[in-house]
Amino acid sequence: MINDKRSTQTVDNTSDDTVWVHDLSWDGRGVARRDDGRVLMIFGAIPGDLVIPEIRHEPNKGPVDCTIGELVHESPQRVPHPCPHYARGCPASQLGAVRREFSLDWKRTHLVETLRRIGGLEGVVVEPVIPSPKQWRYRERLEFQVLRGQNGLDMGYIGLSGLVPVLDCRLGATPLIKPFAALRRNLDYLDSHPHLGDRVPLRLLLRDNGRGEAIAVLFVLTRGPVDSAPLEEWLDSAGFAGWEIRRVRNQKLRYINSELVISKGDPTVRIRIAGRDLILQASVFSQVNRKAANELVNLMLEQVPEDGRLLDLYGGYGRFGIAYADRSGKATVVDSAADALSAGRDYVRKTGLPVEFRDIDLGRDDLAELDAAVFDAAILDPPHAGADEQVLDMLNERGPERIIYVSCHPAALARDLKRLTAYKTDLVVPIDMFPSTSELETLVILDRIS
Ligand SMILES: C[S@@+](CC[C@H](N)C(=O)[O-])C[C@H]1O[C@@H](n2cnc3c(N)ncnc32)[C@H](O)[C@@H]1O
Repeated sequence: MINDKRSTQTVDNTSDDTVWVHDLSWDGRGVARRDDGRVLMIFGAIPGDLVIPEIRHEPNKGPVDCTIGELVHESPQRVPHPCPHYARGCPASQLGAVRREFSLDWKRTHLVETLRRIGGLEGVVVEPVIPSPKQWRYRERLEFQVLRGQNGLDMGYIGLSGLVPVLDCRLGATPLIKPFAALRRNLDYLDSHPHLGDRVPLRLLLRDNGRGEAIAVLFVLTRGPVDSAPLEEWLDSAGFAGWEIRRVRNQKLRYINSELVISKGDPTVRIRIAGRDLILQASVFSQVNRKAANELVNLMLEQVPEDGRLLDLYGGYGRFGIAYADRSGKATVVDSAADALSAGRDYVRKTGLPVEFRDIDLGRDDLAELDAAVFDAAILDPPHAGADEQVLDMLNERGPERIIYVSCHPAALARDLKRLTAYKTDLVVPIDMFPSTSELETLVILDRIS
């Protein structure tokens, strides 16, 4: 018999195989410890559950990969998950099975622990997580894999045992629902296509175009020519406002480096920024949750001097820099994505805002000419993996008084904060940009100490 202190319930149907789930892993799986000391990561389990785990893979060392064999006692934090794909191993929204307040508290606790463990940061003020206005249907971008698997051609997310076919992803904004359903219905257009198979997968990006319609980009991983005719027919069948087919050599770099094969209609996204429209190509990065992203910009504006100079590193089309210049300052935006820079330049040409765009590969180019000391503050908003080492070195050597670090990856953030030795972390503000998932966006204020 086990007494669950959290629910004060008494459960008497335990066996030697049952385990209490006491935590969540970074990717949202339930964490439990077996009697022999081994840590179990259990897909679908949440803290407070009592489960008999089913082992999927037990390596010699490290966590044991499990699913729920039997749910003996349900956690009081459990809520019904609204998506049927979750029960079939879809990893897209694992935190959709827990109460929202619990998920916000867990994200904050996990962040504090990561900053302490990896960043060596103790006693830093970490604010409560700012909730997103929406918990579902907030993602303006969704990405799917299209693969030929054991059951033929299908599209969805990569889950526990390969591809989880998805009919509708409840994280996705409403304009994406119908075109996605049409593409699923019409998968047989691709039946004979040579680019399909598990070795040359297609990635499908669906986007809300900011005008209440959907657009798409199909990234084809190939070095050779693309036989686009069947792909075109397939995309045409979904009623998009526009679409693009792009060739990529490395799917990880698809937002920085891809080559347009063919496009149709108007495959652009409208971003309303500082009261005017900025037009982005469909393959250019923008935040997935626009309302929560606006919160980030407002927080940034509160933390930098009003009419100074801002250096916006990894700035893309200039979301932060433009908002800053619109208030009364001047900004320099640095990025290496040509399409993002050209969208930003186009916008400032029309609006006359004092924003300069610089095309610099922050990982490779020599940064000697980037005089960071003349700025009053710098934004650092790198990709998932964190900032390039030479950027952190440059900031330590000649960075401005204040840095605002924006991150979607707590572990990479903690590592980088530790490397920013000329700065001290003053304030950490987590934002729930990705509700119902284990991901978290964080804004950090750093001030120069040496
Ligand atoms: C998380 S996004 C942030 C973009 C922008 N701040 C925004 O909020 O829209 C990261 C940005 O880093 C840029 N990036 C990635 N690697 C880079 C590199 N080596 N040099 C310069 N920019 C890079 C990408 O093009 C992308 O715009």
